[in-house]
Amino acid sequence: MDETPILRQLLGAAQAERLSMHVPGHHSGRDMPALLGQWLQSALRIDLTELPGLDNLHDATGSILASQKLAASHYGSQGCYYSVNGSTACVMAAIFASVDERHRDVVVAGPFHWSVWRGAQLARAKLWRLAPVWDENRLEMLVPPPEAIANWLADQAQSHSWAAIVVTSPTYTGRVADIDAYARLAHEYNCPLIVDEAHGAHLGLVTDLPPHSVQQGADIVIHSAHKTLPALTQTAWVHHQGSLLSAERLKSALSFLQTTSPSYLLLASLDVAQAWLRCEAAGDVLQLQQHLSMLDRWRNVSDADPLRIWIPTGSTKRAQLLTEALEKENIFAEYVNVAGGLLIPPYHLSQRDTVRLEALLVRWQLESGDLDPKLLAILQAVAECTPQKCLDTADHFPPQETCVVWQSGHSAVGRISAACVIPYPPGMPILLPGDEIRREHVELVAYLEASGAIPVGCKPGCQFPVLS
Ligand SMILES: Cc1ncc(COP(=O)(O)O)c(C=O)c1O
Repeated sequence: MDETPILRQLLGAAQAERLSMHVPGHHSGRDMPALLGQWLQSALRIDLTELPGLDNLHDATGSILASQKLAASHYGSQGCYYSVNGSTACVMAAIFASVDERHRDVVVAGPFHWSVWRGAQLARAKLWRLAPVWDENRLEMLVPPPEAIANWLADQAQSHSWAAIVVTSPTYTGRVADIDAYARLAHEYNCPLIVDEAHGAHLGLVTDLPPHSVQQGADIVIHSAHKTLPALTQTAWVHHQGSLLSAERLKSALSFLQTTSPSYLLLASLDVAQAWLRCEAAGDVLQLQQHLSMLDRWRNVSDADPLRIWIPTGSTKRAQLLTEALEKENIFAEYVNVAGGLLIPPYHLSQRDTVRLEALLVRWQLESGDLDPKLLAILQAVAECTPQKCLDTADHFPPQETCVVWQSGHSAVGRISAACVIPYPPGMPILLPGDEIRREHVELVAYLEASGAIPVGCKPGCQFPVLS
């Protein structure tokens, strides 16, 4: 069997080509300035375009379709569609495809990425947010239990015809939700369950990993290949199954959100990622798990992805000391902030590096001091104060700049936010346009700014965009 159909076609085309008279303008590297050309070298020879035999992402019938089918076969989905615009485009497309004139209400349960808001805005949906549960020991947000959402849905007026339920699992920090129960709940209401599994493309690979959401009955499942598989930045795919959302609608929505000149380097990377999943991944995961057992004291949570390490910090000083300790060892974390530090280890982590990491974490734990109770209360309040009222995104798009003024610090409290405010990473909005700014938001932004991380949407000096 041809395990990597896109790559094979691409290599064939690159080897056959003598003189490029087509885009991209670096012409197989010939015209690429040396500054970058030296780094990219032979990769430039396969940075091709839709030449004969290379198929078309927007109407896949050849090697791209074959590769997508192989990816779908790994997860057991009915269809898998590639994105060169990350999970961002997939999440947006899934929401855009779910919403129509008769179904505008989208429920998002628990923490969600910025792309959910963007998708809802694009679809002019009505967004219902159900607050995350705050884990006060681990300092992270969790998806609320399905029973809580079931009760909430039962309390809503019968007139609602839900377009979709959206859940993030695993969360950025690695906690997994009960997707099986969520899928059954969504199906009771005859609406699709969209799972933003951007951080979980590797789930289900071995029995010790939580199952992936296709297996658990979600209708749409989104994976960033580039987050947890050996793949290039921006690569992602979306799976489809069942009949609650039409595959054609999903494909059209995704096509709408992607460039007409997709990078074949990214497509080849997706192709190789699906082959890796089917052929090599399980062995690599087992090897990593073996090494990570040395770090068990940092990973002892049963409903979490065991390949992710979340170290709660809980004070400016502890976050600062963790950053310094990692930097001193030249270890680059995914991020460290006042809630915690997130480490995403490579599959080929060496035993030596694991020992080094364990030693520095133990030292840090001994020397890092106490958690800051005021900060802990703020983190919890921000997580739990999600407004439960419906946000009609059509009221906020496009934003009217003339109505926006900047208010700093406590003078912003009680005002209505004119934009998203998003600590980045993790990219989960703490405020959406139309939300009331509370004291806790201001205090959290002050903490973040003091540690050098001004959220997207704010300006230095703890300034918030508010409606005039
Ligand atoms: C939970 C979640 N969903 C979606 C995305 C968007 O993914 P991408 O970077 O592939 O566009 C992110 C990015 O960090 C994320 O954390």
